[in-house]
Amino acid sequence: MSVPSIIAALAIPIILDRVLFRSKDPARTSRIPHSKERVVIIGASSGIGSELARVYAQRNAHVVVVARRLQLLEELVQELSPVAGSIHVVQGDVTSPEDVRRITVESLKALQGGIDTLIICAGAISVLPFEELAGIDAAKADNAPTTLESDADFSHLMPTNPQAALEASVRIMNVNYHAPLNLTSHFLPALTRTSAAGNIVVVSSMAGKLGAPTRSIYCASKHAAQGFFDALGMEVERTGVHVGIVSPGTVDTDLRQSAVDLPKPGSSTAGSDGSEPKKIAGTKKGAMTARACAEGIVRGSDLRQQEVVMPWFYSVSIALNLITPGLVRWLAKKKYGYL
Ligand SMILES: NC(=O)c1ccc[n+]([C@@H]2O[C@H](COP(=O)([O-])OP(=O)(O)OC[C@H]3O[C@@H](n4cnc5c(N)ncnc54)[C@H](OP(=O)(O)O)[C@@H]3O)[C@@H](O)[C@H]2O)c1
Ligand SMILES: *[C@@H]1O[C@H](CO)[C@@H](O)[C@H](O)[C@H]1NC(C)=O
Repeated sequence: MSVPSIIAALAIPIILDRVLFRSKDPARTSRIPHSKERVVIIGASSGIGSELARVYAQRNAHVVVVARRLQLLEELVQELSPVAGSIHVVQGDVTSPEDVRRITVESLKALQGGIDTLIICAGAISVLPFEELAGIDAAKADNAPTTLESDADFSHLMPTNPQAALEASVRIMNVNYHAPLNLTSHFLPALTRTSAAGNIVVVSSMAGKLGAPTRSIYCASKHAAQGFFDALGMEVERTGVHVGIVSPGTVDTDLRQSAVDLPKPGSSTAGSDGSEPKKIAGTKKGAMTARACAEGIVRGSDLRQQEVVMPWFYSVSIALNLITPGLVRWLAKKKYGYL
């Protein structure tokens, strides 16, 4: 086979897939002009979410910003109220049983009863190797008894902290998966009934597509969200609601502060043993800016794209993972220092 025919063999199905099956809806912006769009941004106090608020405000949309840190949200409103169509704060914790319904009600009230775009950007990360998190200590092998006693409890083969691993996992699943699910059930009726073209946009991650060392429970939570919103999108499409999933690579934000498996910065347990804060694997080198990421998310929402992968070359690793998974694992191990 010649090179051009190989390229054509690859390109034709990709192009056909785009033309036949990928719904892109450029008409959304004519049905919902920028200055009429009603947007709720969950997780808007910092990072990508606060840049999303800036992008929407600068095109005169009606914006509700949601997060726990009230002061940051109020500063954002001060900054953006001169340009936004309108901008309101709703403070709340999306993992709290009391808050999700109230966030929904207050957001709809602020937007005069309707919503066009729900962006779910709140999230948390994890940064520890699983063995470290669960207290799986290779050194304990030295204490192995030489003979097998009848009352052996195999303590040298037990993890010291399995509970910590499970608790961190529950916390990260609550923020990255259960909260988006709960927000979706609360906002979906309003998106269906009050918008000409309702959108749910979920900020997932490359960790929702591929595994990466030191990110095991984060990958689990983002894979869960990916599966849920993939399936949901197919279900609700016929009601006119679009679901988009965004998968950024590394973005230059303070997301690491949210790590569910490290002591909170400034808490009594942080560095209590006087040790230096540990170096977290993975670099921010080549990270995209939160602004560029936010612009990509807004474009994806306008065009009603089902998948947005940023920067674009990460879609190559997703494709390569099917053909040369060994290479992709090698690249991931290299990035996180596991070679
Ligand atoms: N940075 C990256 O490299 C990267 C890469 C891929 C994907 N992402 C994803 O992008 C999203 C945004 O992260 P970011 O990088 O912009 O980090 P960030 O600055 O830490 O943003 C997280 C946002 O979520 C909010 N949030 C967290 N827990 C919440 C809760 N329980 N209730 C309400 N709001 C909550 C935070 O606000 P409060 O603390 O004020 O509540 C904050 O506004 C996350 O889903 C993350 O997984 C980030
Ligand atoms: C989801 O939201 C509802 C309404 O606010 C609440 O009753 C329920 O406990 C929430 N679930 C979780 C896991 O936060």
